[in-house]
Amino acid sequence: MSSYFKYTGNELHFGLNPKSLSAWTKSYQGPAYIYDLAIIADRYSKMKSALKGVDLYYAMKANSNIEILKFLQKMGCKIDVVSLGEIERALQAGFAAKDIVFSGVGKTVKEISNAIDLSIHQINVESLAELVRICEIAKSKNKQVAIALRLNPNISIDTHPYIATGLHENKFGIELSVLEEIKKFLLQNRQHLSLKGISLHLGSQMLEFSGLREALQILKKVYLDLKLQYPELHRFDFGGGLGIHYESTDLKKEEFLLAEYAQVIHQELSPLGAELQSEPGRWLVAHAGLLMTEIQYLKPTPYKNFIIVDSGMNHLLRPALYEAYHQIYSTRENSDKPVNSYDVVGPICESADFFGKSRSLHETQAGEFLVIADTGAYGFSMANTYNLQSLPQEIVFDSRD
Ligand code: LLP
Repeated sequence: MSSYFKYTGNELHFGLNPKSLSAWTKSYQGPAYIYDLAIIADRYSKMKSALKGVDLYYAMKANSNIEILKFLQKMGCKIDVVSLGEIERALQAGFAAKDIVFSGVGKTVKEISNAIDLSIHQINVESLAELVRICEIAKSKNKQVAIALRLNPNISIDTHPYIATGLHENKFGIELSVLEEIKKFLLQNRQHLSLKGISLHLGSQMLEFSGLREALQILKKVYLDLKLQYPELHRFDFGGGLGIHYESTDLKKEEFLLAEYAQVIHQELSPLGAELQSEPGRWLVAHAGLLMTEIQYLKPTPYKNFIIVDSGMNHLLRPALYEAYHQIYSTRENSDKPVNSYDVVGPICESADFFGKSRSLHETQAGEFLVIADTGAYGFSMANTYNLQSLPQEIVFDSRD
């Protein structure tokens, strides 16, 4: 059991200082994501102290809840965005333009134009075509833009293929063979393009770092080579991607993993003397959120026992999209009841609409509540209104209060 969850007196408690969820089940008005700011504070401080000297640009795509953003901003975190919507949300949350990195593979003219007007910290460029577009817009505004080149080193990591990004078959990053052409273009357009950094993001949910080390070794050489011609180059952005344990949470093990990750980063990158940047998403917020849902029906069949709840792939897409595993708890332990095997499924008209299959749970009934654990990252931010279902609510609390 995750140590952010525990049963006390038959009731499930959640948080850094675990709090009973009963107040929310009593006032339940539909599926809700519930987030504990105290967990985010704890994760942020742990990451900040492990990655000493690294500027953290939280990847907003993981969770763009405004209260969470304001909270991270107050803690000193910076922000990584991938759309105009996210730029606007970042400003609304209080982030200064100089603390915004703009990533993403398909930036439009309007998005680039806004980023340039704001003079954000850096635009991470993903292709020659994008570089040309940025240059044209900067020229028309008579401005110089701070850019970083996102490079694709063709290195695989052990993760779901849908969230790996550092291979040639992926749409992300600039292939090293295109660099010569990029360099030429940069030299011709120095007054509008200032090469401040290089960047890398190999993929998400990384739990092993040999691929990362290999990629850093390749890109270090590229950095040093580029620096000869572009002395203004001084930033190395090594992306996000540090994973968490979904199947059986062991927070101590995750801290070891963080330490191992930090060691790879420091060993490989400290000798460069560059300004180091990272874009973590999941590691900061995944454990801080749960999705609460009400059981509508029990549906026993000769083949399966289904629990049908009022939330589904419309609110949490991860199981349907990546067959991702999330632990599922009942808000009442009911340890005196027998344990049964259930498929926990939602109301959506798709067979991919499940939260978990063959899960052992104490017998339960309609009107009781389940929580889907570790859904603070890529939960609400990927929710949709398929079948014209409403979006879930979001509730933010601080378990230290
Ligand atoms: N930087 C870039 C350029 C990214 O594309 C991403 C995530 C991050 C940073 C943050 O990665 P993180 O630290 O969160 O792993 N929806 C998927 C994850 C997609 C990640 C997309 N890019 C999921 O639910 O697992």
